[in-house]
Amino acid sequence: MAEQEDPIKQGKSDVVRAARLSVAPMMDWTDRHCRYMHRLLSSRSLLYTEMVTSPALVRGGALHLLDFHPDEHPVALQLGGSDPAELAAAARLGARAGYDEINLNVGCPSDRVQSGTFGAILMKQPGLVAECVAAMQDAVAVPVTVKCRIGVDDQDAEGVLPEFIARVASTGCDRFIIHARKAWLQGLSPKENRDIPPLDYDLVLRMKGLFPALHLSVNGGITSLEQAQAFLDAGLDGVMVGRAAYHQPWDILAQADARIFGEIAATADPVDIALAMIPYIEAHLVAGGRLHQITRHMMGLFAGRPGGRLWRRVLSEGASKRGAGPALIHQALARMQAAQPA
Ligand SMILES: Cc1cc2nc3c(=O)[nH]c(=O)nc-3n(C[C@H](O)[C@H](O)[C@H](O)COP(=O)(O)O)c2cc1C
Repeated sequence: MAEQEDPIKQGKSDVVRAARLSVAPMMDWTDRHCRYMHRLLSSRSLLYTEMVTSPALVRGGALHLLDFHPDEHPVALQLGGSDPAELAAAARLGARAGYDEINLNVGCPSDRVQSGTFGAILMKQPGLVAECVAAMQDAVAVPVTVKCRIGVDDQDAEGVLPEFIARVASTGCDRFIIHARKAWLQGLSPKENRDIPPLDYDLVLRMKGLFPALHLSVNGGITSLEQAQAFLDAGLDGVMVGRAAYHQPWDILAQADARIFGEIAATADPVDIALAMIPYIEAHLVAGGRLHQITRHMMGLFAGRPGGRLWRRVLSEGASKRGAGPALIHQALARMQAAQPA
């Protein structure tokens, strides 16, 4: 069958292309509502779910964690776990739900995750990660990828990272996202672990030199599309942006299709995005949801723009009130407009 007619191969090439710019998996942040808005901002970028643990899916049967809107494609499911058979079963559930990629979390440092022996602590067990990835690959046709750190604690990142990548890549896994700092497993909170261990972008760039055939994305501390483009120009295959994409979604995502993917520039304005969210909000309310579950992810839509603070204030004061609905969006937009100098 010709490649363009094979939906699996076609889907694989789309997801690899999309990985030039991705929005990081972020617990409690990149839920389906957040991803829906991000997709309105960029039709090309790859979106990641929050981490879903394989025990929650396989033993807990929490299949609702896999729900997503069809417009979210291309979208990757991030799994947490360290039991190969259980991860394979979870990956199968994810692929069956329609995800375009299954990603394994080898970067999260939280206590809860360490006690379940998954996340960043797995940087110490490349053999086990390779077993997990091999089992996941056997279970699904979509790509299986790994998001890792450069090392943990007192590991020598320079030695450990290439060994880790080589070991895991020996399974056939060919895409890695590297958060360019260590995780310190003792004494730092997960939040501190995203800021305090120093970033080492050069090490990630050197990995591309060592493994030119692998698709490598860099993550950590990237706050603009210019910075993202510079990493692509330096030879990396992808850039993953987390907090900046969440807090300034317009700055990171609205120009991404044009600047990172070479598409014709879209002319949308953040106001258009706010208005485009309304049918989605209406459907959510009809299904019994609450407004603030969506608007909490819309707070940053006007970040750094005139009226951005007023927008946040109107949404945060009104969205949790009983009966709050799309009228609040219109009200916030009208108040912003009224506050503009004539
Ligand atoms: C609120 C929050 C939740 C996160 N949850 C996850 C997660 O579920 N899985 C994961 O691999 N990383 C998680 N991360 C880490 C991000 O994916 C990313 O690696 C990190 O924030 C560094 O990228 P940045 O500097 O662009 O934000 C989380 C980060 C934040 C801020």
